[in-house]
Amino acid sequence: MRELKRTHYNTELSADNIGETVCVMGWVQKQRHKGALIFIDLRDRTGIIQLTLGDGSDRTVFETAKRLRSEFVIAATGIVKSRGENINEDRKTGAIEIDVGNIIVYGEAQTPPFEISEDETNVNEELRLKYRYLDLRRPSLNSNIIFRHHVQRVTRDYFYDNGFIDIETPNLIKPTPEGARDYLVPSRVHNGKFYVLPQSPQIYKQLLMVAGFDRYFQIARCYRDEDLRADRQPEFTQIDLEMSFADEDEIFEIMEGYMKTLFKKVLGIDIETPFLRMTYKDCMNKYGSDKPDLRFGYEFFDLTDTLEDCSFKVFSEAVRNGGIIKAVKIDGDFSRKEIDALTDYVKTYKAKGLAWYKNTDTPSSSYSKFLTDEENKKILDSLDVKANETVFIVSDSNPEVVYASLGALRCEIARRKNKIPKNLFKFLWVTDFPMFEYGEEEKRWFARHHPFTLPNMDEFDRYHDGDASKIRAKAYDLVLNGMETGGGSIRITKPEIQARVLKFLGYDEETAMERFGFLLESYKYGAPQHGGIAFGLDRLVTLLLGLTSIRDVIAFPKVQNASELMSGAPSFADGKALEELGIAVVKESK
Ligand code: AMO
Repeated sequence: MRELKRTHYNTELSADNIGETVCVMGWVQKQRHKGALIFIDLRDRTGIIQLTLGDGSDRTVFETAKRLRSEFVIAATGIVKSRGENINEDRKTGAIEIDVGNIIVYGEAQTPPFEISEDETNVNEELRLKYRYLDLRRPSLNSNIIFRHHVQRVTRDYFYDNGFIDIETPNLIKPTPEGARDYLVPSRVHNGKFYVLPQSPQIYKQLLMVAGFDRYFQIARCYRDEDLRADRQPEFTQIDLEMSFADEDEIFEIMEGYMKTLFKKVLGIDIETPFLRMTYKDCMNKYGSDKPDLRFGYEFFDLTDTLEDCSFKVFSEAVRNGGIIKAVKIDGDFSRKEIDALTDYVKTYKAKGLAWYKNTDTPSSSYSKFLTDEENKKILDSLDVKANETVFIVSDSNPEVVYASLGALRCEIARRKNKIPKNLFKFLWVTDFPMFEYGEEEKRWFARHHPFTLPNMDEFDRYHDGDASKIRAKAYDLVLNGMETGGGSIRITKPEIQARVLKFLGYDEETAMERFGFLLESYKYGAPQHGGIAFGLDRLVTLLLGLTSIRDVIAFPKVQNASELMSGAPSFADGKALEELGIAVVKESK
């Protein structure tokens, strides 16, 4: 039978409860024994409260309190008292304490491998991940996970309120073509055959439209065997939806309403809608990225026409070989050391160099001596360079190198010069993505989003046997502060168009039928026009909290090499299991 019943979570108590007898439960953050007094900081998921014992305390209870150590789990009853002048301003419960009448120890604790600090920690992440259940006790990490729960709750409410039906889709499926490597799951019943884990519920949500559900929504786990980064996990969560009879505008409106509601409810922030929209082409031209961070300026200037015939070969030859020249203008001066560091930085993006011009009292530049006075003037005029501004220029015969290097440079400078405002959220719809991209290695075209995305059919007819990069798709991303938070598209719903696109992507009819036949077939029985989008929940929560790594908002994340340090997954399978699956491991990794 339960000996005590909790009356309050720690931070539910305040000066209003003074004089009340209460019962709290949690972990000992710290115990301090000072002569006749014992102070215990008790932690629960809401925060910390101070417990005190002194001369007047029951002696047996005092003895129990004496042997408490950090991370012991206890229940304590007592009377809420004022701390008088000794207020701890850093704590929500800083004005009160509990004068303890009784303590029950529910669980003793060994000394943990690292201190569960009240604030941020500098213990290395590997050790913290190994003992994730301890790290999760840390108030900051604990509150991230609880914040994520609130985000999920607001998300569900919003979509339910807007007529979306929450439907689960299977996790053991046939491959969906999202572009990453699949996680394979061997079948015991069908030896030699495999399920894959879904990279997204894409095909199923489209089939739910054919099935007539009209508006589908799911918070879905997705699995992609791809190289990990700070914003990528092999298993992650999508806020996934699909709408029948909806065009891009309607989907954007629903999503903007969602963001507005979410930001208001979880952060108390009013965000402005509708969001800015920009085509993929404009994004690349202005920011060199399809996920530009708009919290700061530093838009590109194009110098390709201005410098195509100039006397500096680095510039003119880049253009002659099909390249471009772009510049960014930054307020303020840069030392030679800073410029050298930035030059090294752009080189990591394959730029061959970084040309610069400093408009200080005595202007200087890396390239002026190679140009005529008139050419130099043309640059400054076209950029409208003001006093104390610095210009950085990258030219290359491959436009992608210019985009990538100068695009990264504008962000790096904003970071180094502290030009990124805190608590600012800049949304952007990026539209009109190219439908296809060419894989140099495989020497074939790939769908940039996925092959069920509707291409601009006029452009498809015109360019499919020429430069297919010119074919745009009805695909869009929602970018927030330079991170792709969501992506979606209007889908193909006509079997003949789907067949043409699959053929263009190199699927012969037999393969297409084998892989996606069930979807193609379904379209023959009446498919409503539909489209949708999926948001990365982990990324969204990370951004809302102003963090940089999605690991900090996932209870049990994986590390760079896709293993989970706490449980040790993945692990070897035992021989019998493999035998049943008809599988022999040829090469075991160490
Ligand atoms: P997409 O592949 O763009 O679209 O994925 C949607 C969003 O999911 C997030 N995301 C990830 N988050 C963490 N780790 C990963 N490995 C990871 N990969 C993707 C991103 C991304 O914007 N079925 C389509 C959606 C649709 O067309 O409706 C899809 O999955 O935030």
